Amino acid sequence: MTIGVLFVCLGNICRSPTAHGVFAKKVADQHFESLIRIDSAGTSDWHSGSKPDSRATAAAANKGYDLSSLRARSVTVDDFDQFDFILAMDRQNLTDLQILCPQNFDGELALFLDYADDLEDKEVPDPYYNDRRGEGFVQVLAMIEQASDGLLTHILRRHRL
Ligand code: 4NP
Repeated sequence: MTIGVLFVCLGNICRSPTAHGVFAKKVADQHFESLIRIDSAGTSDWHSGSKPDSRATAAAANKGYDLSSLRARSVTVDDFDQFDFILAMDRQNLTDLQILCPQNFDGELALFLDYADDLEDKEVPDPYYNDRRGEGFVQVLAMIEQASDGLLTHILRRHRL
């Protein structure tokens, strides 16, 4: 059995690859990498094939997360067959996913920050514009770290691990 987790944002070059890299490290640190399969995608195909934004890569590397192997792709309806958790970074992403979601999908389609118990924000803000110095990326990373801890706890509890 594997549990599939897919992180989704708009471009798949800032928020969702950051979530991908952070959650993958937390899963590996607890030795659950053979149980939990992780990927990320965008609701758009604007950056398909691109590496994560250099500001996201830098903010992640600064905290020990490696995004260098990730490449952007767009989400497809097949992803609903492949993944048990499909987690949106903001409400627009969630709306776009709900439109794509087959009626028989029996996984969890939710906002990623629903798993961050202590955060009042429910959306990961889009840091792509107006952030030349990368401060928004640092804030985004912190939110993603918190939600990743909550998500891993949720999955392990759910599967009694
Ligand atoms: P992401 O950020 O959805 O977190 O990857 C964005 C990346 C690119 C664009 C918008 C948001 N864009 O407009 O190209």
